[in-house]
Amino acid sequence: MTIPRGRIARWVTAAGLLVVGLVVAGILLTRAEALAAPAQPLPYSHKVHVEAGVQCLFCHTAALRSDVASLPSVQKCVGCHTLISADEEPIQELLGYWERGEPIPWVRVQQQPDFVFFSHQAHLGASLNCETCHGDVGQMTVARPVVQMDMGWCLECHIEQPEEKVARLADCLTCHK
Ligand code: HEC
Ligand code: HEC
Ligand code: HEC
Ligand code: HEC
Ligand code: HEC
Repeated sequence: MTIPRGRIARWVTAAGLLVVGLVVAGILLTRAEALAAPAQPLPYSHKVHVEAGVQCLFCHTAALRSDVASLPSVQKCVGCHTLISADEEPIQELLGYWERGEPIPWVRVQQQPDFVFFSHQAHLGASLNCETCHGDVGQMTVARPVVQMDMGWCLECHIEQPEEKVARLADCLTCHK
């Protein structure tokens, strides 16, 4: 049996387009997954707390002076919630962690692999604010990532810094110890 050449060409083109389509869909799906909010053990809302006037640094106390920003202890929540909304269901759950002496198992929204070094202190010292990297967390009812914090994202900002700093900021060993 002989298959006309034109037909083979059409099949090859169709198969090629299908592969390209699947790859693009795969990339888009991975992106959407990477930027989704993880499920959390308690319905903690940044919006509610920030609109009530609580400052980011009141809860993320280590950000200005260490590599990590840190998450608040259960004790910090309880400091307000033995009084505020104490009868509500999620606060009852919160007080349950406190009584059992257990930490709340928050799920990290975005985490760098172990081989990456990042420091909050260095960036806040350079006058960047939380929103530059994390978006408008104060308006989020559930904390979610707004950008994929990959190497390209880090470098894009590092190479825009004053010329005398770029060599250091683009050096592999600055971020990979
Ligand atoms: C230059 C970008 C940048 C800025 C500015 C920044 N962050 Fe981060 N933040 C990150 C990155 C990257 C991570 C992930 C670090 C890791 O996993 O090692 C992170 C992680 C966190 C975490 C979870 C882990 C931890 O460090 O405790 C919290 C909470 C956090 N940031 C809060 C803040 C707050 C609050 C501010 C402002 C005071 C802020 N960040 C400013 C980039 C930034
Ligand atoms: C500075 C005081 C303060 C701290 C600290 C605080 N909260 Fe709140 N929280 C509030 C206020 C104010 C509200 C809004 C109450 C309202 O509008 O009824 C609230 C509301 C809530 C609600 C919704 C309650 C409901 O009515 O369903 C939850 C859940 C909650 N907080 C969890 C937490 C957790 C978890 C922590 C610790 C990470 C925490 N809060 C720390 C003041 C605080
Ligand atoms: C009342 C305490 C409280 C305040 C105020 C607060 N946060 Fe948080 N933040 C938390 C808790 C608890 C979590 C962990 C649960 C979650 O991810 O929603 C968290 C998580 C985060 C994360 C996700 C970190 C990660 O990768 O897991 C970022 C980013 C963050 N906060 C930034 C901010 C910024 C910016 C502000 C000020 C606009 C702020 N927070 C104010 C308690 C607070
Ligand atoms: C929005 C801009 C911006 C983004 C995004 C950013 N950085 Fe930076 N980074 C800076 C600035 C500005 C400095 C401070 C430069 C200086 O020393 O004056 C800095 C400093 C650092 C330092 C300290 C360098 C030193 O020698 O002291 C490290 C490490 C670093 N960044 C890692 C990262 C990593 C990892 C990421 C991505 C996860 C990242 N940065 C994303 C702007 C950024
Ligand atoms: C400004 C910070 C920064 C600098 C400078 C930097 N990297 Fe990275 N690198 C990252 C971050 C963040 C990741 C993890 C996220 C990702 O895979 O994009 C990473 C991931 C990697 C990975 C793993 C990729 C993978 O897919 O698992 C390799 C390999 C790597 N970097 C090599 C390098 C080399 C080589 C240099 C110097 C030419 C360099 N990096 C400079 C931040 C940086």
